[in-house]
Amino acid sequence: MNKSIKTIGATVIGLAVAGAVVYAAGVEYDLNRPARMESAMAPEGTVEAQIARGKYVAFAADCAACHTSKGGGAPFAGGYSLETPFGTILSSNITSDKETGIGNWSLEQFDRAVRHGKGSHGYLYPAMPYTAYASMSDGDIRDLWAYVKTIAPVSHPVVENQLPFPYNQRWLLGGWNALFFHAQPFKADDTKSVEYNRGAYLVEGAGHCAACHTGKNFLGGDSSAFLQGGSLSGWYAPDLTPNPHVGLGTWSIDDIVGYLQTGSNEKTVSSGPMTEAIENSTQHLNPSDLRAIAVFLKGQKPSPSVPPSTLSADDESMQLGKRVFESQCIACHASNGTGVRRMIPALAGNAAVNSNDPASLLQVVLKGEEAPMTAGNPTAAGMPRFDWKLSDDEIASVLTYVRNSWGNGAPAVSAKSVATVRASEGAKAWLGK
Ligand code: HEC
Ligand code: HEC
Ligand code: HEC
Repeated sequence: MNKSIKTIGATVIGLAVAGAVVYAAGVEYDLNRPARMESAMAPEGTVEAQIARGKYVAFAADCAACHTSKGGGAPFAGGYSLETPFGTILSSNITSDKETGIGNWSLEQFDRAVRHGKGSHGYLYPAMPYTAYASMSDGDIRDLWAYVKTIAPVSHPVVENQLPFPYNQRWLLGGWNALFFHAQPFKADDTKSVEYNRGAYLVEGAGHCAACHTGKNFLGGDSSAFLQGGSLSGWYAPDLTPNPHVGLGTWSIDDIVGYLQTGSNEKTVSSGPMTEAIENSTQHLNPSDLRAIAVFLKGQKPSPSVPPSTLSADDESMQLGKRVFESQCIACHASNGTGVRRMIPALAGNAAVNSNDPASLLQVVLKGEEAPMTAGNPTAAGMPRFDWKLSDDEIASVLTYVRNSWGNGAPAVSAKSVATVRASEGAKAWLGK
């Protein structure tokens, strides 16, 4: 009896050790494997032309936004902090500094990081969107490298991995990649137009729109509901399928182009992480590429969500909400929620307002929001903060009212969720207490 338990114990330990050795060998092999390249990477045209194309790819992929620390850090010198459900990750220094940046790298090493998720310390965390960049073309990667190499060296050491145990163990990402990373070159859909396929290439690859607009499972992998809405660090990135209630169903191609170019259109004004994406990335894209993105989005199958039934106007929370709206919001957003064209978003028929998850609305009402600043729309209004002015109950009620008036319909917002966001997002306390 005792002996057989011992034997079983020894076998289990033996198997575990053997498993760990095989796993470690596999990871080691994977890390040292040469990168996949489908075609020769011989440069096209002059070096200047290549660098200019690479700069455009860097805009499309928004590299600078993540690789520049907030508050005036040197461009591409890293240190931008990304909050994930697992902890904080800082972005790397990708200037050509030889010690603290990637000045000693080759094109192959660069490709291995950007399209394969393997950097100087081993596996990269998917906060660096290599899962999307994997479908970028060889030509784009080659041009991008030509541009990145020209970035002046900045000495700035960064310790990327700030995660708590066990998430700080990079080798675990070998398992994560096996589950969620399917590195595939971009495949055009022959049944669709050239324009649609250009849009698909930009959205799925460089644009990494799914990084925010697709929901994540509990391990941070993409859910199967592609572009049907996702949460990120306290914000909600809405459904981008043509769903008429919570998605882009009522947006025209021009509405989408205008929004990505200027941060505002006839329907809405961008806020939060999308304003950053517009300012740093999409406003710099050619109108033809923005159009291609819009054609691709409008060509998706609408998500299946159905609008919830609206709350009745004599619901207690609706009545309080109406009073708050009429005293605090009406001057800007107008009594019927129509806003002011391209300056103050309409709240009526606004997909973001109708989204199931009110996270972004809570951010904006509690802390206010600066309007986007783009070349196409350099001056715009801002939304004042109401954290100090309104109680949790008043904010919950006014949002419930806005989400259930003028044809809108969405779940009520609770005072408890206002209190939670107020605390977790560093909003001020209500002064009326
Ligand atoms: C959403 C934010 C984000 C975007 C966009 C992004 N990166 Fe990163 N990148 C990161 C983070 C975070 C890390 C560090 C990850 C880690 O250490 O595991 C990183 C790491 C890297 C590394 C590895 C450096 C090293 O020493 O290992 C390279 C190279 C890199 N990024 C290049 C790029 C390029 C080029 C682009 C644009 C095509 C880009 N990144 C866009 C967040 C981003
Ligand atoms: C860093 C995260 C992030 C990335 C990357 C991102 N978005 Fe967004 N997006 C958001 C958030 C958050 C909102 C909600 C902003 C708001 O409510 O004003 C949003 C809003 C939008 C809207 C407006 C939707 C509506 O109903 O009001 C459109 C259109 C959009 N994004 C398109 C895109 C496209 C196309 C891409 C890729 C090129 C992209 N986004 C990449 C976070 C992101
Ligand atoms: C001084 C004018 C002004 C007042 C007053 C005001 N807003 Fe706003 N609101 C704005 C502007 C401008 C924006 C766009 C901000 C941005 O995204 O850059 C905005 C954005 C919003 C959004 C986000 C819409 C979206 O598409 O994501 C909501 C929700 C909102 N306001 C609700 C309210 C509520 C509720 C009140 C009253 C408690 C209120 N606002 C008062 C100007 C105002």
